[in-house]
Amino acid sequence: MKGDALIAAQLADAAAAVPEWNTWIARLADCYDSSRHGDYERWVHALEDLPNRLEDLHPWRKGPWRFGEVTVDTEWRSDWKWQRLAPHVDLTDHTVLDIGCGNGYFGWRMLEHGARTVVGIDPTLVFCMQHLAATALLGAAQNYVLPARLEDAPMGPRFDTVLSMGVLYHRKEPLEHIRSAAAFARQRVVIETLIVESERSLFPEGRYARMRNVPVVPSVGQVLTWMQEAGLHGARCVDITPTSTLEQRSTRWMRFESLKDALDPQDPSRTVEGHPAPVRAMFIAEHAG
Ligand SMILES: C[S@@+](CC[C@H](N)C(=O)[O-])C[C@H]1O[C@@H](n2cnc3c(N)ncnc32)[C@H](O)[C@@H]1O
Repeated sequence: MKGDALIAAQLADAAAAVPEWNTWIARLADCYDSSRHGDYERWVHALEDLPNRLEDLHPWRKGPWRFGEVTVDTEWRSDWKWQRLAPHVDLTDHTVLDIGCGNGYFGWRMLEHGARTVVGIDPTLVFCMQHLAATALLGAAQNYVLPARLEDAPMGPRFDTVLSMGVLYHRKEPLEHIRSAAAFARQRVVIETLIVESERSLFPEGRYARMRNVPVVPSVGQVLTWMQEAGLHGARCVDITPTSTLEQRSTRWMRFESLKDALDPQDPSRTVEGHPAPVRAMFIAEHAG
């Protein structure tokens, strides 16, 4: 299928799955535009010569993927994060909104786990293109990725489960982010974030682990409080795991720097800026409906 046809099918199928977003999704077609992205033509050509040109969709961050004979060894062992989430969520027949879904990796895992439909939103277009490649290679499924930010998604539809994983610490107004997630949820909200294992949240003045856009690394207690303030019930932390350089690392499929380069070589319990090294936690709460 041609790149244009893959994009059109993705948007049409997503609009059919979420009729309340019909008009908005139609407008998202404008995001697939070579004048906005210098690499766009290369990405479209990659889609038209699969699996041969999968590397042209670099950087592959979330995975791993197995496409026939090709294994895409991504920067992240996202399957490890999935193992930390899956035992805690019954997704049977659930509709799911995955905020900041990257290339939609978790959507495929959630369909295997019983979800009916997964709609992901992510403004980074190369990840949306990776999702189109996966769809072309694995076959169309009820797993959609829309090139959008949470803030731009019109209110209206409700999803049984709403996930926000790896987004909160990038937000200047984390409570508002959780409120928005909750506003789309019918039953459950899952928040996964970097945390600090101390009473007080960390507000990095400069970078955190070389990332520029980290206004806050919250404490566990702070995330639980925000979830309660957002009107969610029974907020609980179900997992805390330090991120290792086995879970996040450079590979042939993600050739930029990775976690190893963000840690102090003399003391890997610290980032290069002297902050505590990355630890991530998974939170779940219920929404009354
Ligand atoms: C660290 S990645 C997390 C990806 C995946 N959810 C995971 O847990 O592995 C954060 C993702 O959020 C996306 N993102 C950034 N700002 C966003 C926003 N305002 N709304 C939705 N997604 C956003 C980024 O493009 C990126 O793919």
